[in-house]
Amino acid sequence: MAQRTAKKKKGAKTEKARKPWGGRFTEATNALVEEYTASIQYDWRLFPYDIAGSVAHAAMLGKTGIITEREARKIINGLKGILQEITDGKLEFSMELEDIHMNIENRLVRKIGPVGGKLHTARSRNDQVALDLRMYLRDEIMEIRRLLRGLQKTVIGLADRNQDAVMPGYTHLQRAQPVLFGHHLLAYYEMFERDRDRLADCYRRVNIMPLGAGALAGTVLPINRKMVGDLLGFGGIAENSMDAVSDRDFAVEFVSVCSQIMVHLSRLAEELVLWSSAEFGFITIADAYTTGSSIMPQKKNPDVAELSRGKAGRVFGNLTALLTIMKGLPLSYNRDMQEDKEPVFDTADTVSQALAVMAAMLDSITVHRDAMRHAAEDGFITATDLADYLVRKGLPFRQAHEVVGRAVLKALELTCGLKDLPLAEYKKLSALITSDVYRSLSVDASVGRRISYGGTAPANLKKRLAALKKLVK
Ligand code: ARG
Repeated sequence: MAQRTAKKKKGAKTEKARKPWGGRFTEATNALVEEYTASIQYDWRLFPYDIAGSVAHAAMLGKTGIITEREARKIINGLKGILQEITDGKLEFSMELEDIHMNIENRLVRKIGPVGGKLHTARSRNDQVALDLRMYLRDEIMEIRRLLRGLQKTVIGLADRNQDAVMPGYTHLQRAQPVLFGHHLLAYYEMFERDRDRLADCYRRVNIMPLGAGALAGTVLPINRKMVGDLLGFGGIAENSMDAVSDRDFAVEFVSVCSQIMVHLSRLAEELVLWSSAEFGFITIADAYTTGSSIMPQKKNPDVAELSRGKAGRVFGNLTALLTIMKGLPLSYNRDMQEDKEPVFDTADTVSQALAVMAAMLDSITVHRDAMRHAAEDGFITATDLADYLVRKGLPFRQAHEVVGRAVLKALELTCGLKDLPLAEYKKLSALITSDVYRSLSVDASVGRRISYGGTAPANLKKRLAALKKLVK
């Protein structure tokens, strides 16, 4: 594996000559400053993008005659060799060379000689780093969209296998109306679909090619930005050189979309924590996705779900960090912007991991339908159905609500549920109530009648599942 950590040799004198920018300096960089300003410890992972970007840039320099085709070929071959060296773990990165861009360029010059120094013609690290980050994010966005789709498939599978499971639906975490477990689960399908959509939209703005902006003002050399953009598969070219090097909207947007994904994962995680508790007893999470306690031998804890909830905080922190880094920066590039990498990388890593583990864990759960149904058969959960029964008999809803409220009071007094309240008691509350009322009070009738579009009826679930299974195939 690659030696991806930049090692700082203790007491080593920093050689001014090694710095690509060392010309106007007479003093070596202070060792603390060297460490403080370096980003190679984390930006090494941009290397495949940095090299791909440089290959395209070199090809363009050759094609436009800014360098000779021969020089371009030499540079490109050198870069391909370096890609192999890094992949094989044979290139040791150096902190003295600050970042991945200068580490690679330095290696190129050592490898192919002074002609390597022509690569940075008509380019600056400011447009280079923007390019690398955009290319990195394109891949991450595609990967996260793929992981979201995987999780959607898990959700669909679980709903499909448990089509007949009924559970209490909640508002205020109080039992509200019975719903199908599958219907509840498919709510998450919708959230993840919106997340996928947001990522696709974010991708359009990430997929803009900044190279050719130079440091900030463009270049006097006859470059062909369109060619570089096409070679790298970009959808467009940044219109304004200053915007190209100062813009990090695309990174903020990515972390923002990821924050929303984490909100969804965190809410699902919270439900799994609740459902797997003894108090609910709706599900059991497989051993492989839980952990034990070092002191209480009986414990089996939903740590994976808890961490998914907790890691949301981490991603929101990254969003706040990025926004705060950017908010006071005058145009164009400022070194503050180097601080964008860690929040972006951490966000992509955290979200990818959270999505993968959530899909696996969710697939592992055992659903306790009896416990769910038992909870759904709570004495008053079909109160709305009773009101709707009266509405069907012509009573205005507000009056029906009042009648049912009084029925609930009466049932509480008699310590029974609505379906055990004698017909005589119902008759006292409303003459409209007849013996057919009891049919409206069952959980299955309640769920079965909710056939309004998007409602929880089994017929709806079946239809929706069939459509989704086709869609995600
Ligand atoms: N490592 C730097 C970053 O991540 C690259 C750009 C440096 N540019 C500069 N002018 N110092 O932002």
